[in-house]
Order: sequence, then C-alpha cells, then structure tokens
Amino acid sequence: MTHRYIKELGSYIDQEVVLKGWLAQKRDSKGLLFATMRDGTGFVQVVIDENVVGNEIFEQAKKMGQESSFAISGIVKKDERQFGGVEVQAKSFCAYANAEDFPITPKEHGVDFLMDKRHLWLRSKRQWAIMRVRNTIIFSIHEFFQNKGFVQMDAPIFTGNACEGTSTLFETDFYGEPAYLSQSGQLYGEAMAMAQGLIYTFGPTFRAEKSKTRRHLSEFWMIEPEMAFYDLKMDMDLIEEFVQHVVGRVLEKHPLELSVLERNTEMLEKVKLPFIRMKYEEAVDIIKAEKAVNGKTSIQLLEEDLKALNDKMASLQSDIAEREAKIAGGTLTKGERNFTQSKIDQLKNEIKDLEEKAGNIPAWLESARNFKRGDDFGGSDETVLTRMFGQPVMVYNWPQEVKAFYMKEDETDKGYAKGVDLLAPEGYGEVVGGGERETDIERLKGKIIEHELPMEAFEWYLDLRKFGNVPHSGFGLGLERMVAWICGLQHIRETIPFPRSYGRLLP
Ligand code: 4AD
Ligand code: MG
Repeated sequence: MTHRYIKELGSYIDQEVVLKGWLAQKRDSKGLLFATMRDGTGFVQVVIDENVVGNEIFEQAKKMGQESSFAISGIVKKDERQFGGVEVQAKSFCAYANAEDFPITPKEHGVDFLMDKRHLWLRSKRQWAIMRVRNTIIFSIHEFFQNKGFVQMDAPIFTGNACEGTSTLFETDFYGEPAYLSQSGQLYGEAMAMAQGLIYTFGPTFRAEKSKTRRHLSEFWMIEPEMAFYDLKMDMDLIEEFVQHVVGRVLEKHPLELSVLERNTEMLEKVKLPFIRMKYEEAVDIIKAEKAVNGKTSIQLLEEDLKALNDKMASLQSDIAEREAKIAGGTLTKGERNFTQSKIDQLKNEIKDLEEKAGNIPAWLESARNFKRGDDFGGSDETVLTRMFGQPVMVYNWPQEVKAFYMKEDETDKGYAKGVDLLAPEGYGEVVGGGERETDIERLKGKIIEHELPMEAFEWYLDLRKFGNVPHSGFGLGLERMVAWICGLQHIRETIPFPRSYGRLLP
C-alpha cells in the first residue's frame, strides 16, 4: 500500500491507505482511541479500535504522548463533521518514536513562552495554517511577475551604502571595512532594470528597529520590482493588479487555512481593482476630519465606532448579569449551571476583545484631531484613513522631506515626491512603498548631500543616470506585512518561521 498524505484523502473514500505523521491530540473511551494525526499537509481524526488492532497494539497506541510519531493503515470514511471532511478507521498501527511532555499543550500559553519554543510551536494548527498561506503568497508573487516576463534578480546582502535612511542600518565587519546589511535591494534593482527592462528582487532585508511593534521585524523579506520606462501612474497600476492577484490566490487555495485562522474573508473579497487613490494632501484632509467621506468625517465615524462598541459591551454585561442571577437563584441543575457558566466565560472574553478595540480608538481620535500636515503617517493615521473606506488605499505625492533621497520630484506639484504607499485596511497600514525614481543627476546629488549620505558610495548609482538615463519606477512589498494582513494576525511575529526582532535572536 502506498503512503498517502492527509490532504489527498478526499480522493480515497472507502479505500485503505497508509498515513504517516504525528499525534496532535488524542482522547480515548471504552476501547476506542480518537487520535488527531497531522502530517504537514493536514489534520485528520484516526479511530483506533481495540477490537480491530488487538489489545497489545491498542495499549501501545493509547500510551502515545502528544507529538509522538506513528503510522497507520486504515479505511477512509467520509464525515462532514470532521476537520477536512473525512475520518480514518485504523486497521493497523505502528509507532516511530514516542514523545513525552511536549511543552505546548492545548491549554493557553503566553506569547513569550511560545516564541521561546518557536521550533515546536510551528507544529500547532494555527502556525501551520499561517505558513501554508505564506507559501502560497510567495509562489503567487513569483507567478505574477514571471507571467509578465519580469526577471528575478538577487541583490547583495552586504552593502556599502544606505538606501532607506541611516538610522536603521545594521553595521557589520567586512574584512576590516564597515559594511551594512541591506535595507533594500532597490538601488541594485535599478541597475538591473537598465540591463533587463523588468526585474524583481525577492530577498531578506534588515533594519535595526529598536522598538517592539506589531509591524516591524529586524529581518524581513521584501519583493522589489523595478521597471524601466514606467512612470508613477503605471507603477500604481501594477501595484493594484499585483496585490489583487496575490489576495485572490490565497482566497482560492486556502479556505480551510483561513477558517483555522478565523479570518473574516469579507474584507479580502473587497480587494478588487481599481483601488482608491489619492494625493497625500487629500488624505490629510480626510484624516484631520476636514473632508467627509460618504457624508461622514473621520471624527464622526470613530465616535460612532466607539459608541457602537460601548453599547455592545453594555448589552453583553447585562446578559452576563442575567445569567449570574440565574445561577445565584439556585434552581438550575448541575448541567444547566455548567452550561450557563461557560456561556458567561465566553461573553466575558468577548467583552475583553471589544474593550481592546475600544481602547485603541482614543489614539485614533488623537490622530484625527492633531495630525500635523507635512508629517509622515504613523500607524494610527493610516488606520484612520483606511477605516473611512474599508479597502486598500494608495496615497501618492508625498512631501519630499518625508521620503527617501531617490524619489523624483513632481514637476507639476513642486515640493512633492512621486512616491506611493499602499495602505491595507483593518489597521494593517503600509504594505507597499514605492514610486518613480529621480532621473536628474544634479538633483540626485543634491539629495544625497541633503540626506548626509557619502557621495563616493553612490558613484556607481549615479552612473545609471549618465548612461542611457530613462524614466523608471518600482516598489517594495513587505512579505510579512502582507501575510499578517491576509491572515488577519494581531502581530507580525507569527508571519515568519523564525522571527528576528528587537530582543529576539533565538531560536
Ligand atoms: O517603504 P520602504 O522602506 O521602501 C523601500 O525599501 C523601497 N526601497 C521599496 C522600493 O521602492 N523598491 O519598505 C517597503 C516595505 C514597506 O511598505 C513595508 O511593507 C516593509 O517593506 N517594511 C517592513 N516590514 C517588516 N518590518 C520592517 N521593519 C519593515 N520596514 C519596511
Ligand atoms: Mg515606506
């Protein structure tokens, strides 16, 4: 009999298969062992019956600790109530290795504990689902660019110059000379675009972000296409087509994983062309409540959100009070009491979630009231803006001072750079940053000086403007931000197998 994978079991209903995997969970009752096996492709319930496998094998199976490895052969049965829609009735069982005291049990663990055990945490169902979505995102990115004839290039990781500001550089020793870990492959991508026309990088990038936030990693993966003869508008057209493609592929391939993650996919279904586009100044008008969207200003909408949350919490509170009174009345049976108590606990958890949501709103209102025109957007500002639309928003033409040295100035809109940020809704904020590149060599030199960057490290980059200078544009997608948004994760640390961030180098 051939070894099959859990993912394929739907094609083997009523047939006998061999499965190999690990024990995710088990429970037993009266000569029956219900073991959830996981094999990397999925999770399935295996029923081991003492009458079928015999007492000795049954006892051996029953002793397995969580994460023991084993194989079975058995008949696949359709069962819609089960995860994945099937169940397997074992005919034989064989152990590989027993595991004892696996540290991550079905009970709740703190995040720091789980992060320390990341090498084992990756086996849990949620992490499994996230990594599979991440894989599809990566594959669909390559698919998108390869189908359009883009050439993938690998930019160096040791670099001699900053690209995205000097404050986040990781310095290292390169044969006695200082070198930096790459913050972005863009400048090298520009060189390659002049050789290949359409290119994209897909590689690790590094930024020393000396704070713990839910959006920043010290090591993250960036995808940076660069296109010769593209202006800012063409750049934005490509961004929206690209993002729609990637989101669409995940929706198509991962309904099961998204349901494990309890991701409400409604917001993802709304990621459709064309995206909303607006200039920075208009975005500021909206954030600052100087301009209404669909008849409401940001302050009105946030205040309504807050009121709705408070109302909901109050109604849950009175629901809890009613149930508590019932228990106190003393007339309930033991079963009814337990049921009521577990409902109360569930309602209390719901209130906790709502409290957290409501707790964020004052900071957003503060953004709406006090944002300083001309500043870069912070997380709160991005959240306020996208809350107004519930869809991704592209903001372009930013004040030059807040953008990188290589951004082209808009000649028809002096003082503004032809940069664009794509902001994801639901508080995920900037997932893409890009724009049209400065082609005027004198202006570029001026910017390098203004940003206090060492001219000699950029001589090679300036060469690109000397030999066959052409308009060109590109952008960078932060892979982990994209994974967080699509999976609906609270924190970026779960989006990458082994996160590196301030204070985290192990495992
Ligand atoms: O906006 P950024 O800094 O743009 C660039 O690096 C350009 N060179 C891109 C280009 O035009 N080729 O970064 C691009 C994206 C951000 O939008 C964000 O998604 C992600 O990279 N990013 C981070 N992701 C995780 N952790 C961090 N510390 C990140 N910093 C940026
Ligand atoms: Mg940016």
